[in-house]
Amino acid sequence: MTTSPTPWWYDAVVYQVYVRSFADGLPSPGDGIGDLPGITSRLPHLRELGVDALWITPFYTSPQKDHGYDVADYSDVDPLFGQLADFDTLLVTAHSLDLRVIVDLVPNHTSDQHAWFRAALAAAPGSPERARYLFREGRGADGSEPPNNWMSIFGGPAWTRLPDGSWYLHLFDSTQPDLDWRNPEVGDMFEGVLRSWLDRGVDGFRVDVAHGLYKEESLRDQVLPEKSAGKQAESMVERVVRDEPMWEQPEVHDVYRRWRRVLDSYDGDRMAVAEAWTQTAESMAEFIRPDELHQAFNFGWLSTPWSAADFAEVITGSIAAVSAAAAAPTWVLSNHDVVRHPTRYGGGPSGLARARAATLAMLALPGSAYLYQGEELGLEQVEVPPEARQDPSWFRTGEPGRDGCRVPLPWSGTAPPYGFGGADGTQPWIPQPEGWGDLTVEAQAADPDSTLAFYRRALATRREVFRGADDTTVAESDGDVLVVRRAGITVVLNAGTYPAALPEGEVLISSGPLPGDVLPPDTAAWIR
Ligand code: GLC
Repeated sequence: MTTSPTPWWYDAVVYQVYVRSFADGLPSPGDGIGDLPGITSRLPHLRELGVDALWITPFYTSPQKDHGYDVADYSDVDPLFGQLADFDTLLVTAHSLDLRVIVDLVPNHTSDQHAWFRAALAAAPGSPERARYLFREGRGADGSEPPNNWMSIFGGPAWTRLPDGSWYLHLFDSTQPDLDWRNPEVGDMFEGVLRSWLDRGVDGFRVDVAHGLYKEESLRDQVLPEKSAGKQAESMVERVVRDEPMWEQPEVHDVYRRWRRVLDSYDGDRMAVAEAWTQTAESMAEFIRPDELHQAFNFGWLSTPWSAADFAEVITGSIAAVSAAAAAPTWVLSNHDVVRHPTRYGGGPSGLARARAATLAMLALPGSAYLYQGEELGLEQVEVPPEARQDPSWFRTGEPGRDGCRVPLPWSGTAPPYGFGGADGTQPWIPQPEGWGDLTVEAQAADPDSTLAFYRRALATRREVFRGADDTTVAESDGDVLVVRRAGITVVLNAGTYPAALPEGEVLISSGPLPGDVLPPDTAAWIR
């Protein structure tokens, strides 16, 4: 095992590729769905953007009921996305461009098309095949009521009944049965999966629903505050502190200790980052203790409202929580599950100005930053028409769901599919809006004031001034202005409605124009 003093991931900027929506490269008459050859063909965009790594969402064999987060074979590529050889080509090409590659691991549940679940359905209640999942008898005289009151994150009960009367647990879609991690076969299977991708040369894993896996053994009812009884579960983003026998069980940490030993037994700095929607920053930090995973997404930062005081508090709290675990923080503003941040900040020109300002503040913070494809183009959440929606949660709840942040990227041209692929004119799997012609990579690359040009400058400046810099960071609010001091740089972000004074010094970069030596509202700058 060889590890460097400061491993690459410690302060990396990682770009999330949502595979279905990045680039459609397979020569088969464009199916309008992104794939591995598409990613490989667009790696130069990531190189030029200046990120250090990419995280690719699941491209494994899958019936795509949750667009890949329902895995039927963890060690193979779905034909929709290519073949294993295409993955190897992607990896070699990325490495030749100095880009690391993180793949997604989905251990909480399988697809209902996984060989294990098919075998479980074919076997009798009480069989070893069923013991890999959470099958239970129902309640009520005839067992016709679910075994407990848990609700699916995608809406409706978290249990589905089979014709033979047994129920199985699925915290997400009914096509995503939850595994029983108390069965040792499950842990052994995932160690094999981990090794199969490490052997291929991946640099790390993003661990899906890392706060799941284990459930309280009794599978007791969740104690609900009165107002939420009988309602669907809140999305992971909206969760409030409460009784959660399905999340954050102490046993899950032994899984990550085992994985850490596996990761450490390989050459290079192989890493894992947890998608753990924990209740507090402190419980997030438990996933990154020195013998567990390396990083956890900081969803506290993503959920912070547009307020200097709140930003300062989250920055200070996140840094304190991870320092207690002797780890480095991470920062994220957008991903494939949440409303894009320009839209969260109000949309339109001011939403975009705020998004750029928040991004610039984020890129000055110690640790690692995660970007979501399309944010470098300033894309907003798209209003996807009901007939085009595909998110399983839309089908279970009738709520718009997550399709609006998953619209395929515009690369070039003035009309859909904007160079996304499908030379034959095939339209992408989620329709792109009209009017994205000015937002394409091609159009923005030619415009020094574009959001793309701003991201490129910000990442280059980050490398120059913060790579290897001291992590000591002080964040506070001065009225409506967030002030962050680190490594001799002062970062200011004006979250108010009036211009603010700009500190003395050389402006290294700003998220928008700085007319008249003041810091306008919705603007951030780095000053040396
Ligand atoms: C994670 C993924 C999300 C997926 C869910 C179930 O939260 O980010 O997209 O639907 O897990 O796997």
